[in-house]
Amino acid sequence: MEIQKEQVLEALKKIRHPETKENIVTSDMVSDVQYREGELWIGLKFSRANDPFIQSIKKACLRTVNSTFGEHTLKPEHIQVLVPEAPPKRAVLPGVKNIVAVASGKGGVGKSTVAVNLAVALAQSGSRVGLIDADVYGPSVPLMFGIGDERPSARTEDGVEWIIPIEKHGVKLLSVGFFVKPEDAVIWRGPMATSALKQLITQGDWGELDYLLIDLPPGTGDVHLTMVQEVPVTGVVIVSTPQEVALADVIKGINMFAGEKINVPVLGIVENMSWFTPEELPENKYYIFGKEGCKNLAEKLGIELLGQIPIVQGIRESGDFGMPIALKAGNPSGEAFRLLARAVEKALIARNIELEPTRKVEITTK
Ligand SMILES: Nc1ncnc2c1ncn2[C@@H]1O[C@H](COP(=O)(O)OP(=O)(O)OP(=O)(O)O)[C@@H](O)[C@H]1O
Ligand SMILES: [Mg+2]
Repeated sequence: MEIQKEQVLEALKKIRHPETKENIVTSDMVSDVQYREGELWIGLKFSRANDPFIQSIKKACLRTVNSTFGEHTLKPEHIQVLVPEAPPKRAVLPGVKNIVAVASGKGGVGKSTVAVNLAVALAQSGSRVGLIDADVYGPSVPLMFGIGDERPSARTEDGVEWIIPIEKHGVKLLSVGFFVKPEDAVIWRGPMATSALKQLITQGDWGELDYLLIDLPPGTGDVHLTMVQEVPVTGVVIVSTPQEVALADVIKGINMFAGEKINVPVLGIVENMSWFTPEELPENKYYIFGKEGCKNLAEKLGIELLGQIPIVQGIRESGDFGMPIALKAGNPSGEAFRLLARAVEKALIARNIELEPTRKVEITTK
C-alpha cells in the first residue's frame, strides 16, 4: 500500500540542516514527494551547489524513511537533488580577473608610459599581468619594453590558433603594432587596428591573469568601441596632464566611458607630468603645466586621483631604452608608479565589491 505523502513529510521533519538548524520540510527543502510506477521519489532543493551537507542530508532521508516505513521504501537513486545553476563563466578571457583600460582625452599625455610602468609595478608585487598595446597610430609599448623587433609566435590546439604573448619584465605583452605595418596609410590602419585588437583579445593565449591592461590610443574612437564590445572592461584609468586644455578632454573621455551606452566604471585619474623635478635636485618642484589641475578636477567630479607622476628625465630615458623606471628599486619615480599600482589595486577591489561585473556593450542599430 502506498504511504501518504503527508506521512512521508511528517517523517522528514525530523531532519534538520546542520547549518540553518531548521527542519528540511518547513524550510522548503523538500521540493517534491511523489510516486512513479509505485515507487517513492523525493526531491531535495539546496540553495547553493556547494552545500557541504548534500550527501549527509540525502543519507538522513534514506535512513529516516526506510526505518519509519520499512526497508526499500526509498531507494538512493530515487532522491533527486536540485541545486542552482552556477553563474556562467565569462566566455571571453575566462582566466582574467580584471580588465583595465588606460585612456586619455588628449594624445601624448603619457598613457603608454603610465600603462607600461603600472604593468611592471603590479607584476613586481607578485601579480600576474598582461598588457595589450591597442594604439595602432603610435604603438610605443614594444619599444618601452625593449622588444620592438620581436614577433609573437602562435600555436594550434584542436584546430584553434592561439597567439602567444611575449614575456618581458614579468609582463605578458601583445601589440596591434605586431600585425599592422607602420608604413600602411593611416586610413587603412584604423580598421586593421580594430580587427587586430579583436584578435589579440580573443586569440591571445593569456591564461590566468590578475590584471590585463589595455593601452588605448588617445581620444574616443573605433578602437575604444571595439574594446568595450569585445570584453567586459572592469574599469578605466584616465591619464592627463594638469594643463587646462588636457582637462577639457578628460571630461569628454569620462563622459564616453561612464555614459549609459558604454557604462564602464571609471576607476580614477592619474595626473602625469604633475611637476618637473631635476634629478639632482629632487626637492625642487616646478609646476610647468599648472598645479594640481587633475586633483582639482577629480574632486569636482567626485572621482579618485589615483596618483601624481612627476616629469623626470629618467622616466623618458628608461622608456626609450626599454627598461621602465618602475623596475628600479629605490628610485623616487619608480616609487610614484608603485604607489599608483597600490591605488589602482585598491580602486579595483572597491569597484568589484560595490558594482556588478561590467557587461559587454551590445551595439544595436535602433
Ligand atoms: N612623467 C614623465 N616624465 C618624463 N617624460 C615623460 C613622462 N611621461 C611621459 N613622458 C614622455 O612623453 C612622451 C609621450 O609619452 P607617452 O608615449 O607615454 O604618451 P601617450 O599618451 O601614450 O601618447 P600617445 O597619445 O601618442 O599614445 C614619451 O616620450 C614619454 O617618454
Ligand atoms: Mg601611447
